[in-house]
Amino acid sequence: MAEYLPVLIVGAIIGAFALVFFLASLALKKQKNADGYTRHMSDGEIVKRLLHYAKPYWKDFVLVFFIMAVSIVYDLVSPLIVGHVEKTVSGDFELNYLLKIVAVYAGILIVSMLCTYFQAMILQKTGQKILSQIRMDVFTHIEKLSHEQLNNIPVGKLVTRVTNDPNSISYMFTNILVTLLKNSMVVVGVLGAMLLLNYALTLMVLCFVPFVVLFTVIFRKFSRKAHRDVTDATTDINTYLSENLSGIKITQIFNREAQKMEDFRRRSRELEKAKRNRMFVFGIFRPMVYMLNISCVMCLFYFGSKGYIQDTPFLGQVITADIVVAFYMYISKFFNPIQNLAEQFDMLQKSFASSEKIFGILDMVPEVVDEPDAMELEQIRGEIEFRDVWFAYNPGEWVLKGVSFKVEPRQTVAFVGSTGSGKTTILSLICRNYDIQKGQILIDGIDIRRIKISSLRRHFGQMLQDVFLFSGTIRSNIVLRKEDISDEDIWRACRYVNADSFITKLEDGLDEVVRERGNNFSAGQRQLLSFARTVLHKPSVMILDEATANIDTETEMLIQDSLEKMKNIGTMLIVAHRLSTIQHADNIILLSHGQIIEQGNHQALLAQKGRYYRLYTLQYSKQQLLQN
Ligand SMILES: Nc1ncnc2c1ncn2[C@@H]1O[C@H](COP(=O)(O)OP(=O)(O)OP(=O)(O)O)[C@@H](O)[C@H]1O
Ligand SMILES: [Mg+2]
Repeated sequence: MAEYLPVLIVGAIIGAFALVFFLASLALKKQKNADGYTRHMSDGEIVKRLLHYAKPYWKDFVLVFFIMAVSIVYDLVSPLIVGHVEKTVSGDFELNYLLKIVAVYAGILIVSMLCTYFQAMILQKTGQKILSQIRMDVFTHIEKLSHEQLNNIPVGKLVTRVTNDPNSISYMFTNILVTLLKNSMVVVGVLGAMLLLNYALTLMVLCFVPFVVLFTVIFRKFSRKAHRDVTDATTDINTYLSENLSGIKITQIFNREAQKMEDFRRRSRELEKAKRNRMFVFGIFRPMVYMLNISCVMCLFYFGSKGYIQDTPFLGQVITADIVVAFYMYISKFFNPIQNLAEQFDMLQKSFASSEKIFGILDMVPEVVDEPDAMELEQIRGEIEFRDVWFAYNPGEWVLKGVSFKVEPRQTVAFVGSTGSGKTTILSLICRNYDIQKGQILIDGIDIRRIKISSLRRHFGQMLQDVFLFSGTIRSNIVLRKEDISDEDIWRACRYVNADSFITKLEDGLDEVVRERGNNFSAGQRQLLSFARTVLHKPSVMILDEATANIDTETEMLIQDSLEKMKNIGTMLIVAHRLSTIQHADNIILLSHGQIIEQGNHQALLAQKGRYYRLYTLQYSKQQLLQN
């Protein structure tokens, strides 16, 4: 019994550690479900869908598998060679023989290193291809989503779906899967090699396995929480940053820098703490596995040296020095992959979570789509009819309640009404940005749901309430990627809408740089550019949602004049806030709470002495007041 005392002491120490960690993990269990992201898809389902992306590259993966199998040979054979060297050195020493063995060792090492290099290269290349495929798929899919669906996902989230999440998936293909596979193979291979070499010592090594498993299980619990805390803190800081950087001017104007700094510092501290905790968890786990590794080696030396020095059989087998050396190397080759496996497993879970988020986007069925027998519409006359249209953004909350009107080709129709009465909504329904719940919208007598969406929108020119300019140049913002347009055509469009006067004053003319969202241009200039953009594409129906923003009188007159001209192009629907803009419209539709309360031309509506009359006299007297 006394001769096993050292081993028992080692066992007791490891057991004590195991108990402490076990108790600690029980304490953690209580807050398990309090935080974080819950997965809905099963691992199997995710793997199946990911394999679909890997399928075109199956040859590359098979190649990598073979290369990996070759590189594993080094892990399995090198301890045997070193053991053999020991035998050679301690027996009848022969330099030539020793050199030969060293050459073989070096050869295997070089082959193994080359294998690792090629494996990494192939995987990186394939991983990048898969990454770009996923990115493309997500982006194309997002483009197909309806306005309603897009309204419900914050832009920051969409950006993460296209950038970060595919990265994490690609990391799985390039790194995690291979490491998992290789490490599993190494563990099995090393175990087999040890068994062949000496089953008694292998049994001794296996005694440590339950502890490794226990430590790993406990570690995973802690590390999952640590990883999640870091992810949450990072997302929090990113969201805060993106929102506050866009609003930084407001912060400066309202003198809120110090307060914002304090908010940011708090979040930054959270992240720092989360990262420190994660390091702490890893900092405990790694030495623990190392402790098991060293304890195992110590036991090996203890039994090995006893057996070797006294030449006594241990469990029926004699242990020789070369076996001790080989086992010494095998033990570390056995413990390292296990530690890696445990650490990589979390990364795998993280990739799965990213995959699920991406598939969540890809699984969103676009709400506004072409019907199977939808038709192309080459030309339209520009007749628009609403027949008892009911529409709600949110089920039950009707925004339009039985709206009916008809616009003849080439007519100009204006929509007026208080804020929130549904003017913008009507305009976006015509272009089928949303589908209506009840009633019919007809273009040239055809229900818009029977027309291909791309074909429908081609005939419309939309000038929205807040003009969006892309970063680029004036030219790129006017032509919007349509390539076969000459400068002459662009200038003609600009002259038509009076945008030429300010463009000619710019240093670079049409090549003047437009910064993000067009923030180096005034609201009026942006509006004129959006007119030019619309006129250039010669739509049959023009839709203008007039901005409420204040525009200087000079620009207002330019806009007024260009509106008059644009009326000649085709049918025109205008939402106007200044009633002076629309006096010449063929029909004026007055909306209130999603219903039409009055319609007719300016004179007829004034004669009715109803709501329009009151609105007009109010605006008119206000104008008079301002002028006096
Ligand atoms: N995407 C949306 N989701 C939910 N409700 C919306 C959405 N867009 C608008 N609404 C609601 O629909 C109603 C009509 O909005 P709409 O934008 O059509 O008003 P509007 O007449 O254009 O007003 P304004 O003159 O201020 O531009 C409002 O009550 C608004 O709150
Ligand atoms: Mg509006």
